Amino acid sequence: MELYLDSANIEEIRHAASLGIISGVTTNPSLLAKEDPKIDVRKRILEIHALVGGHLSVEVVSTDADGMLREADEILSWFPEATIKIPMIPEGLKAVRKLSDQDVETNVTLIFSPTQALAANNAGATYVSVFVGRLDDLGADGMEVVRDVRDIWDTQGLSSLILAASIRHPLHIVEAAKAGADISTCPYKPLMQSLQHPLTDKGLAAFLADYKKMQEEIAKLKG
Ligand code: G3P
Repeated sequence: MELYLDSANIEEIRHAASLGIISGVTTNPSLLAKEDPKIDVRKRILEIHALVGGHLSVEVVSTDADGMLREADEILSWFPEATIKIPMIPEGLKAVRKLSDQDVETNVTLIFSPTQALAANNAGATYVSVFVGRLDDLGADGMEVVRDVRDIWDTQGLSSLILAASIRHPLHIVEAAKAGADISTCPYKPLMQSLQHPLTDKGLAAFLADYKKMQEEIAKLKG
């Protein structure tokens, strides 16, 4: 399972990219606004693209297909490899079909059910983004949707890539991988938490202390 960073923060993206563990970045209007409500979206998107170079989802904000397609044209004029992120609404599906027919990659976002994922796949979506955490917030089992989508995809031989989004903690990453998600897009905090283990830190401290002891003994022998 590939990992993307779900962020529009340059420092977070720079650091995660430097670790070599992410192959893309997903953004949305809320993440951009969190950085700065007056943010220059084109400039920030191009900065992110320069840092990561892999997948980069950029979301449209129109609610009609023509508007979405105009926005997609503009985003693609910034950089042609952009993945256009489109909300899972009927007008969005129309836009996805058109973009898919032009071989433009799309990421259908705000998917909360297997039927929405199926429709997005049939419209030609490259990625279907299932929002796990927001379903969990309602007391539902968000990962169940990812598992159902994987089952349906395997039974039917469907091709959209399954992207587990709205990830809130490291266990979501584990569960998404077990559920067969192709990609998990994680905010910076759970991604960094997922790299840590107290026994790793304790073990490293012991290795370093023992190495220091050895060096001290060697130094004593050399006198
Ligand atoms: O990329 C969008 C998605 O991951 C949103 O997550 O935490 O706002 O539910 P969240």
